[in-house]
Amino acid sequence: MTSNPTWILKRFPTGLPGPDDFSLEQRAAPTAGPGDLLVRTLWLSVDPYMRARLSPAKNYAASQKTGEMMTGGGVGEVIISESPLFRPGDIVQADDFGWQPLTTIAAKTAIRLDPASAPVQTSLGCLGMPGLSAYFSLLHTGRPKEGETVLISAASGAVGQIAGQIARIKGFDPVAIAGSDAKIEWCKGIGYRTGINHRSESDLTGAIAKACPSGVDVFMDNTAGPIHDAALLNLNTFGRIVIVGTVALADRFDQPDIGPRFLRRILVARARIEGFLLDDFEAHYAEARSQLTRWYQEGLLEAREDVAEGIEAAPHALTRMLKGENFGKQLVRV
Ligand SMILES: NC(=O)c1ccc[n+]([C@@H]2O[C@H](COP(=O)([O-])OP(=O)(O)OC[C@H]3O[C@@H](n4cnc5c(N)ncnc54)[C@H](OP(=O)(O)O)[C@@H]3O)[C@@H](O)[C@H]2O)c1
Repeated sequence: MTSNPTWILKRFPTGLPGPDDFSLEQRAAPTAGPGDLLVRTLWLSVDPYMRARLSPAKNYAASQKTGEMMTGGGVGEVIISESPLFRPGDIVQADDFGWQPLTTIAAKTAIRLDPASAPVQTSLGCLGMPGLSAYFSLLHTGRPKEGETVLISAASGAVGQIAGQIARIKGFDPVAIAGSDAKIEWCKGIGYRTGINHRSESDLTGAIAKACPSGVDVFMDNTAGPIHDAALLNLNTFGRIVIVGTVALADRFDQPDIGPRFLRRILVARARIEGFLLDDFEAHYAEARSQLTRWYQEGLLEAREDVAEGIEAAPHALTRMLKGENFGKQLVRV
């Protein structure tokens, strides 16, 4: 029997997830049934959406069940294939890897990767779910026009770093909000015109006004909370707010939203607020993936990763990302 350390969700967290919410169990390696692949996990993706699944609250996707294995996006090497679609040695990406070194995935959910085209873990970052989210939320939901100011929160993160660079490529005026001076400096280096450190700034509304002297035309809201309110107070007439994520609420997940509300600003600005969900764009993934890959290969997209080492590190990587301690796309190298 091959020992296969597997992360189990013990209970739904209150506030931020912590070590007591998970347990690492030694399990037997799984076997591949018909249509399945047995895969050696190389990379696991750690994403903010996981917080919403660690809760019984209503969501767009089913909750992670307590007592069961944690799952998420991953990349791995096929060891045994019970499907004609793949062969041992193929490198695959799928959205439902178990948090374990050997895992099974349904072949029909797997995408074959070409390691010669880009490092395989980019399929979990700039060329995968976060990159696609940046592409569609900015270009299809926010729809900025050339020269317009686009304010982006969590700007150095997996989604934000790609959104800022696409905004630069397309001739918009990207402004970053991120949680440290080092993150802001890095954002400027990849194409953001300027940025605001929301963790050290005492007057966020004033700081956004200063950084965006012509106002905010499109706000890509990756966080919710006080940043949302400060952006709203700087929104231009006919401004657009794209609600991409609410990671600032991760430590109060099942409680009401926070911060003052400025609904009158919506009326006065005739603004549009629209929720964004990547799944709604599935029909267009191929086109967006090939555009992102082209930009990446031309050197127009920089992809910063924050790598935690070993399967043991997975829950801690999730907590530190939700606290803003990651600098770039949070991954676990297994
Ligand atoms: N709707 C969709 O289809 C979709 C798809 C993908 C991602 N998303 C959302 O997009 C957002 C970004 O995801 P990501 O994968 O790119 O994560 P990420 O930005 O790489 O990591 C999360 C970041 O959130 C920021 N953050 C954490 N707590 C915060 C707080 N209290 N206030 C302000 N910022 C805080 C931190 O950055 P700072 O240090 O800069 O504060 C942290 O680094 C998330 O909300 C996620 O749920 C949505």
